[in-house]
Amino acid sequence: MSLWGGCMSKQTIAIGGGKGGVGKSLIAANLAIAMAQANRRVVLIDADLGGANLHTLFGIDRPKILLEHFIAKRVGNLAETLLPTPDPRLSIICGGMPVLGTANPVHSQKMKLIRHILALEADVIVLDIGAGIGFNVLDLFNAAEIKIAVFTPQLTSLHNGYGFLKAAIHRHLQRSLTPSVRDCFASTGPESGAESLSDVLNRLDHLDKDEAHKARSILLSEKLYLLGNMVRTSKEGQVIGAVGKMIKDHLQMDAPLLGNVRYGEKIQKSVNERRPFMLWAGIESNALTFRNMATTLLTTPTRSLIPKVPGEADQAATDAGPEQYNRKHPRFPVRRIRGMLKINNLSIPGHVRNVAYGGVLVAFDKAVPNPGDGKLTIGPTADGTVVDVLVRERHRDASGRQIGFSFREIGAVTRTAIASLVASAAASTAVRRTPTAGLSQTPYSAE
Ligand SMILES: Nc1ncnc2c1ncn2[C@@H]1O[C@H](COP(=O)(O)OP(=O)(O)O)[C@@H](O)[C@H]1O
Ligand SMILES: [Mg+2]
Repeated sequence: MSLWGGCMSKQTIAIGGGKGGVGKSLIAANLAIAMAQANRRVVLIDADLGGANLHTLFGIDRPKILLEHFIAKRVGNLAETLLPTPDPRLSIICGGMPVLGTANPVHSQKMKLIRHILALEADVIVLDIGAGIGFNVLDLFNAAEIKIAVFTPQLTSLHNGYGFLKAAIHRHLQRSLTPSVRDCFASTGPESGAESLSDVLNRLDHLDKDEAHKARSILLSEKLYLLGNMVRTSKEGQVIGAVGKMIKDHLQMDAPLLGNVRYGEKIQKSVNERRPFMLWAGIESNALTFRNMATTLLTTPTRSLIPKVPGEADQAATDAGPEQYNRKHPRFPVRRIRGMLKINNLSIPGHVRNVAYGGVLVAFDKAVPNPGDGKLTIGPTADGTVVDVLVRERHRDASGRQIGFSFREIGAVTRTAIASLVASAAASTAVRRTPTAGLSQTPYSAE
């Protein structure tokens, strides 16, 4: 059962970290089990092309069917490679001996693989990513909406893990922005080491302000967690937490610590006996850590966990302007919440149709006389949030009533306010699905 009952929801979670042997596969397996034990349908995929070993953790000697068989076109659909595990809620796709050419699939093969991964029927898809910073590794990591970087307290792991995240975000931005500015981002090679991401963004500001804005929106909406593994002391745990600050300062992303898994004899035993720890662990510290981490992941708001409100998104998609706007940002639909909206001291009744980390789509009751850029006041929402944002008018429909605004400046204060607005939009949309609760009349401040 998915979190919101019958509605479509899917979380994709990639587990990477750059360095081999830090416990990515072990963490992927046990997190996947913990989420299955929380009653989700989970698919765990060994996406370590060329170095697969997830099956051994589950005691599977020679998997009959492998991910590589799909890449080599021996089966037409990735779903045909699913294998059962001891927990009926968890299926696994194993990797193994590379079939000719599958350890390094060409771009089109990789994109097809990613499409099929995202189309698998499940509540949660967990990807165990290989080591290194090759493009295939980075692209599979970036394909997931929630990303987890596994670190051990050793200096080499901290160093490699940071380099991996830097390469991954450079690659992600490079592939998301228009080709004319792509050269600013180097995912590997000497340039990626020399310049900090904020320097690159400043440079991009001069080249193309819109693309710089888009890059910042992408960074703002990244859902990245750090995970400490084989931690032996609380001091070691703190070291991994400290990496988050470095990522914030240099890679401009929030990277909270998901949890610290301690070095454990029982975990070692589970590897030797080829029976994942979470299948038999009782109440003990590492098992609780895995359960807590699973809960955090399952309650992380993601695009697909926010249920679509029928009609809303579809209608927006038919309006030429807003459709273009909608494509730019992951949207969180807000059902018609009527009230006054203020734009540049003009108070006009209307409603917010959806919000994103990068902007907001507003439907005013009457045409707005050229609001242009300025300050938009939204709120208070159901939880009392009021957001003042500097906006830039981006798209308007023919009637002049429906306008998509981009947030113009994303400082620390605005970021927090937008995050709470998005959370409130998610909550209000979710609440609306239950027939007893209703927020449809929550007013905005009319001053
Ligand atoms: N928390 C832990 N406690 C004890 N041993 C661990 C722990 N995490 C990982 N290991 C050991 O490290 C080995 C490598 O883990 P693995 O998941 O295969 O790493 P990766 O996938 O990053 O290459 C495991 O086989 C196990 O022996
Ligand atoms: Mg591995």
